Amino acid sequence: MARGLAQGRFEKDADPLFREINDSLAFDVRLATQDIAGSAAWARAIHRAGVIDAGELARLESALGDLAGIIARDPSAPGGTGHEDIHSWVEAELVARVGALGKKLHTGRSRNDQVATDLRLWCRGAIDVRLGEVRVAQRSLVSLARRELATAMPGYTHLQRGQPVLLSHWALAYVEMLERDAERLADARRRVNRCPLGSGALAGTAYAIDREALAKDLGFDAPTANSLDAVGDRDFVLETLAAAGTTAVHLSRFAEELVLWCSSEFAFVALDDSVTSGSSLMPQKKNPDALELVRGKCGRVLGSWVSLATTLKGLPLAYNKDMQEDKEPLFDAMGSLSLCLRIVPRVCEGLRVDRARCREAALGGYSNATELADYLVSKGVPFRDAHDATGRIVRRAIELGRRLEEMPIDELRAVAPAIGEDVGGWLTLDSVLSRREVLGGTAPRAVASSLAAWERRLGMV
Ligand code: ARG
Repeated sequence: MARGLAQGRFEKDADPLFREINDSLAFDVRLATQDIAGSAAWARAIHRAGVIDAGELARLESALGDLAGIIARDPSAPGGTGHEDIHSWVEAELVARVGALGKKLHTGRSRNDQVATDLRLWCRGAIDVRLGEVRVAQRSLVSLARRELATAMPGYTHLQRGQPVLLSHWALAYVEMLERDAERLADARRRVNRCPLGSGALAGTAYAIDREALAKDLGFDAPTANSLDAVGDRDFVLETLAAAGTTAVHLSRFAEELVLWCSSEFAFVALDDSVTSGSSLMPQKKNPDALELVRGKCGRVLGSWVSLATTLKGLPLAYNKDMQEDKEPLFDAMGSLSLCLRIVPRVCEGLRVDRARCREAALGGYSNATELADYLVSKGVPFRDAHDATGRIVRRAIELGRRLEEMPIDELRAVAPAIGEDVGGWLTLDSVLSRREVLGGTAPRAVASSLAAWERRLGMV
């Protein structure tokens, strides 16, 4: 055991510290299910190639079924058994059950094509689960948008009030982002879903393996095309991490906005107690920890891409042991992303919006100034001049401590003689919003139709 799967070549046992740096069972135990499924498919492939007979295949499949049962009952069962990695554990357990036949299974296979296959299977499964989680997160944002369809709030640029928007419009912006994230994950999945098994250590296998059938057996779309590439490639992990990273960035921005909005300074929303914590010292505190951690975990997800890209950048073809460092970042990133995605619905469901305060803020900050400029344009003033005149009116309004809609008409006319009595109608919040009825705009009708479209698309109606 001290030499694991390759006893013959060595006279001395491995140094304990070598074992510590080399062994991967502590983390690749998470590939157990995939390793067992890949081994069963390989058993069928070498049976088709005439390496083992039907009786041997049946015994292997049944023993592998036992192992699958052990893992189903306790996924961490192999941990602490002292094996080098999950592949060694599976082989040792097979040998314990079917004797020498267990040692035949590795015919024509290498741990290099084996681990690449396991990891692709794992990645595929993780992407599929993430895609489901993205959908659930999107639905919770769409429900929030439905609930707050009548809520106006300030829209910002530079974190300065810009123009009013509907809170629903804001929520649907994140639904759009998550949709692109789902597309990127699904696109990565297309290249993840290729089967390296049959590539051997690096040069291909010498047995008559039907790699098309093998790929199909494991649910892959196709076999990989080049054995060196197949065992040396981890860009399928990189692009999964890149898609995960972009998703995490979006969730982090969402979290940051809500962290701001639930501060006393904004006070647009209150979070449900169930996603907040208190302070050990300051009794009044209710901290948005869940959201801060969504923002915080984004760093780990992005870091895992950097970690793996750095690991890969200097590697000659094909397999190098450095590549064992692909797993922990991948597992960590996908686990972190999963948590972030799953907390979004909890936050959205419990979010209490202070509608009056949002509306009040939407009216403030001269966020209808663009409207006044547009009004002047409607009176034939060129936009640049209208912009300039409105800027001067805003300055005057600040001096007088008034909102634009509260300005005496004479004051307005003194700067822009084209202004008439009808200007008031242009400056109301409802007018400002409803004039943006363009496709993708924040007018209630435009938002309602995009909301309805998302509800249909996400199967909510
Ligand atoms: N634990 C190894 C990994 O994760 C498995 C492959 C080992 N291959 C080898 N040639 N030593 O990469």
